[in-house]
Amino acid sequence: MSSVILTAGPLRGTTRVPADKSITHRALLFGAIAEGTSRVRNYLDGGDCRATLGVVRSLGVQVETPSSQEWIIHGRGLEGLLEPEVALDCVNSGTTTRLVAGLLAGQEFHSILVGSTQLRKRPMARVVEPLRLMGADIAGRQGGRLLPLSIRGKRLHAVDYSMPVASAQVKSCVLLAGFYADGLTIVREPGPGRDHTERMLAAMGAPVTRRGNTLTAEHPSAPLRPLDMTVPGDFSSAAFLLAAGVCVADSDVRIRGVGVNPTRRGLLDALVEMGADVTLSNWGETGGESTGDLHARPSSLHGITLGGDAIPTLIDELPVFAVVATQAAGRTVVRDAAELRVKETDRIATTVEELRKLGADIQARPDGFVVNGPTPLHGARVHSHGDHRLAMALAVAGLIADGATAIEDTACVSDSFPGFWELLVSLGARIE
Ligand code: S3P
Repeated sequence: MSSVILTAGPLRGTTRVPADKSITHRALLFGAIAEGTSRVRNYLDGGDCRATLGVVRSLGVQVETPSSQEWIIHGRGLEGLLEPEVALDCVNSGTTTRLVAGLLAGQEFHSILVGSTQLRKRPMARVVEPLRLMGADIAGRQGGRLLPLSIRGKRLHAVDYSMPVASAQVKSCVLLAGFYADGLTIVREPGPGRDHTERMLAAMGAPVTRRGNTLTAEHPSAPLRPLDMTVPGDFSSAAFLLAAGVCVADSDVRIRGVGVNPTRRGLLDALVEMGADVTLSNWGETGGESTGDLHARPSSLHGITLGGDAIPTLIDELPVFAVVATQAAGRTVVRDAAELRVKETDRIATTVEELRKLGADIQARPDGFVVNGPTPLHGARVHSHGDHRLAMALAVAGLIADGATAIEDTACVSDSFPGFWELLVSLGARIE
């Protein structure tokens, strides 16, 4: 179990961040069911996406890596996946599990999904329930609420499904299952969640539509066209550098080529509302997604209240947002974010527990947290709980805190951000 010791200090310089995790997962899965050869450049080679790569290979899909920068995916078409000989290991990845469950529910073969100790605690009823409404034959631990799941694929029926929680994973799962159902599947989102699935599938010629918060999918009458795309930088990874740039004195951080899809960049809007000196420039486009360069400098911040439709746009950024809030004058409130409790860890409990060790004034609420600031942070020994985003949020806190901060169990960082510590060092961080 690795650990890292960090000392306070600024980040300065220009960098890029690894590719978007959500888009990389989808490129593999959608490329697998396309007809023909997909080319995906600048994919994310992190733990979660490696789990998806392993799954698609076990389903008979050949994926070549002619360079560390490119995948060539030999799609097998909508009906061409093969029955896996082994259990499909989703490791720590909730996205892999939930999207793959939707894809496999309609295949005419049997498959089993397994995962790590961490993943075996995460709720699967959110996908099993709508899939069963579509007629899927799924068994699992605790009646299908937890992994392992056993899926006996069969033809499905279309549903009109209103999602009880805003989850792009659930939405994507049901839309994928909709390709293998008779009739028109309708998915109603409670609010606008990340929309990579519908963007990418529509670009592949798939019958997926969106009107407001209502999506539809049906059995494609023509093969899905292969992908030819470059994955943008992950906004959720850039978030840690942005937060450090805004909070650590003397910092000046520029991050190039970051995906700035409006359903993903909620942290940027929140930082601006707090008075942060952050800018987005040099707009571009790759793979149907907008990109831009981000620039962050220290500024005096004030507390804000976040809730409602804003939450899905920064759900993964809330641990590091809590760190930023410790440096903002006044009260910051996050509500409507109970989903944090079922991420890699209960991120309300773990964020509050660890930031308090550094001196933060933060209280847990059932659906979020309240932070009073500004508070000086003091270096201490903290623990990631095996949660990549918490480990990186604590690293940002360690750059702010006086003295040394020891972060335990840091290997998890490579689930989404391989090279994170090296990148911090390249921007001037002092790390042992
Ligand atoms: C993801 C969706 C989000 C997010 C996760 C990735 C995706 O989860 O937290 O890191 O790629 O679809 P939910 O769909 O459960 O909100």
